Amino acid sequence: MTNIARFIDEMPKAELHLHIEGTLEPEMMMTLAKCNDVELAYGSVDEIRAAYQFSKLQDFLDLYYQGMSVLITEQDFFDLTWAYLAKCADENVTHVEIFFDPQGHTERGVAFSTALNGITKALEQAEAEFGISHKLIMCFLRHLSEEQAFETLAQAMAHRDEIFGVGLDSSELGHPPEKFERVFKAAAEAGFVLVAHAGEEGPAEYVHGALDSLNVARIDHGNNALDDPALLERIASEQIALTMCPLSNLRLCAIDKMSEHPARAMLEAGVRVTINSDDPSYFGGYVNANYHAIHQGLDLSLDHIKTLARNSYLGSFLNETEKRAALNNFDAYSASAS
Ligand code: ADE
Ligand code: ZN
Repeated sequence: MTNIARFIDEMPKAELHLHIEGTLEPEMMMTLAKCNDVELAYGSVDEIRAAYQFSKLQDFLDLYYQGMSVLITEQDFFDLTWAYLAKCADENVTHVEIFFDPQGHTERGVAFSTALNGITKALEQAEAEFGISHKLIMCFLRHLSEEQAFETLAQAMAHRDEIFGVGLDSSELGHPPEKFERVFKAAAEAGFVLVAHAGEEGPAEYVHGALDSLNVARIDHGNNALDDPALLERIASEQIALTMCPLSNLRLCAIDKMSEHPARAMLEAGVRVTINSDDPSYFGGYVNANYHAIHQGLDLSLDHIKTLARNSYLGSFLNETEKRAALNNFDAYSASAS
């Protein structure tokens, strides 16, 4: 292992773009399918893995929604979340800001509170046992209606203390941010922090829309902002963090090879780029694998890696005191490792 590879594995870092349902490993999917008597289209773990061949976002989403259908009880959501957090402890992730998709569960008859309670209990236990801090972000599915998003927001109000933010995910093309302008405004009035996926498959225009119509504090992905120099300059000057996901972009064919990933160009344009895993079980790697992929594919220097890791805290929703402590901890690691 090179020195930079070891530096990546051992450095403290935050993960800011992670769908908890996208951490469902095939082994757990098979086990839960049997326990919960859910029929899967696959006969084995190998068959599940073999099905993970995607040429666009929708190919993945179809399997992602099928996969999450095995999650039924609060314990299932706890076990799913716990497995991810144990991985975080292993990978020196000290802070997580994770998404969940309540509509992916309520639509098939699993109560909002069942999913939420399982996830929350695992997050709290990981804080106590591993010292990993967290924020939980609830996403609206953008292929569903505005009315359904309002219903989901109403359900979230009973869990105001556990849910920190509201996001927007699922099929991007054909579902511009403006469709959710009113429900995002209501979420802001209720005190939720706002984020949205934009510019993953959709055009730079959708990144504009997320910033101006939805008033988000952070953009998830944001790759296609690179097509609009004025927008990129704005994102850099306002220090709006982009939560980029290199292995996801490769597996969903947003790029043909890692050397085409926009992270380096954006970093060098002064954008607050962060590196994340999105749906690691489906895309072949957790957060450290994403750092390794981008390090190799874009020939990044140790300074680039340090900036990315510092950005993971700067772009987080930790408060200023917590950010300073996290950055001091990172700098102490960096000084002792270099
Ligand atoms: N849901 C889970 N992963 C997603 C992604 N990368 N883009 C949009 N919706 C998602
Ligand atoms: Zn995502």
